[in-house]
Amino acid sequence: MSYQGLTTWLETETYENLKTEAMDHVWFPFQQWDDIKEQDGPLILVEGNGVKLKDFEGKEYFDAFAGLALVNVGHGRTEIANAVYDQLTTMHYNNPFAYTSIPTIKLAKKVASLTPSDLNKVFFTSGGSEAVETALKMARQYHYNRGEKQRTKFIARKGSYHGVSLGSQSVNSSTWTRREIFEPLIGDNVLFAPQPLPYRCGGTGKTPSECAISCANAVEEIILQEGPDTVAAVIAEPITASLGAVVPGPEYWPMLRDICDKYGVILIADEVINGFGRTGKMFAIEHFGVVPDIMTVAKGITSGYQPVGACIARDYIAEGFRGGKENTFGHGFTYGCHPAGGAAGLANIEIIERENLVENAATLGSYLLEKLAPLKEHPTVGDIRGKGLLCAVELVKDKQSKENLNTIPGVEKKLTQRLKSNGMLTRATTFLTVVPPLNVTKQDIDDMVDIVEDGISFIERELNLT
Ligand SMILES: Cc1ncc(COP(=O)(O)O)c(C=O)c1O
Repeated sequence: MSYQGLTTWLETETYENLKTEAMDHVWFPFQQWDDIKEQDGPLILVEGNGVKLKDFEGKEYFDAFAGLALVNVGHGRTEIANAVYDQLTTMHYNNPFAYTSIPTIKLAKKVASLTPSDLNKVFFTSGGSEAVETALKMARQYHYNRGEKQRTKFIARKGSYHGVSLGSQSVNSSTWTRREIFEPLIGDNVLFAPQPLPYRCGGTGKTPSECAISCANAVEEIILQEGPDTVAAVIAEPITASLGAVVPGPEYWPMLRDICDKYGVILIADEVINGFGRTGKMFAIEHFGVVPDIMTVAKGITSGYQPVGACIARDYIAEGFRGGKENTFGHGFTYGCHPAGGAAGLANIEIIERENLVENAATLGSYLLEKLAPLKEHPTVGDIRGKGLLCAVELVKDKQSKENLNTIPGVEKKLTQRLKSNGMLTRATTFLTVVPPLNVTKQDIDDMVDIVEDGISFIERELNLT
């Protein structure tokens, strides 16, 4: 049978049949099949346009999570699809180890021109986990090539998420990736520093600045405790998405930079979610005026129109890999420099620039935080935070203990379901995420905030908290 295509399926399929086939054959990441079934799922989406998605039955939803925090230019951009089509029908693939293609070259040049300072060498991957994996290996081999084989340790932060491959999993401590099952990961070589989250400071401070300073000092303490010449790199998201948009006080990143310089430790900024305009700057690290040694990106580089990631190194890091076979980086992915990925990335960045989406993220991000602010009156709203269009509402049982609301069984599901039935798709865990495409309008934000408020009120009524 030949490929039938969407048009045929939309005409001939039934929702029930598709659901049954999905439950029989699709393995849903991070999910239990029974949970999906219980929620009358899976939700089958068939069409995207701007900030909205449509399901098989024609119901429309705000995509308040931008897919998985990546659809920066919005859904339905035929311009990007056409760029990919042109490339696929001209030359769909080349061996990326020995050769390259024009879109790959042009995307590398474009990314290098956008990233701060001399972050100039772009190592392409097909996603964020591979980008992080590459960064960790790059940091290790950089030291190795310089004769510092003993620099094998990494410092990450508590609660962070950097991906699912065994290497990137090693620097995770987010609960949902079940780190304990896979230990030992990359040895006992990863140490976790506190998060500079002012609402629940992992350090000792009460204000954002005090918290930032104490958390940065904790990184230095770990380096000293482990022995500075054993530490390869510190990896951190400039604004931590996995804990619901942790915006550190202004001291944090400049201090991390100084500490890493002092001890010869490589500083890796994970911009997989932060990058390409999400936080109101092209890269979130720009909010802090710091240049990392290595930056990882993915998601927003193509807004999801093709699977692309990259690990971008400063000139001095790349120089450390020159000089014969023994210094070569023995690392690469079959789909690492896919020409169609290059085409999608270039067309996507062109839209981000032409439509001023970075500025829109800054302006409408401030508007979103303003609109969310009154929700603070609700007994379950502990904190509202974010930067640009990376925003979160942290939900708690009570404001004194700050115990998370989702420790009450069933709350996450009920809230997600309520938002969904009111036409909004997003993630509701310890916090409720509001991370829409960057071409969102004020009216979209007003509508989304109304749905969020309804969802919170609904849960409070269900729990007799009002
Ligand atoms: C900060 C960060 N790093 C890395 C990753 C892994 O990216 P991917 O899912 O593309 O492998 C993610 C995914 O959400 C992420 O948020």
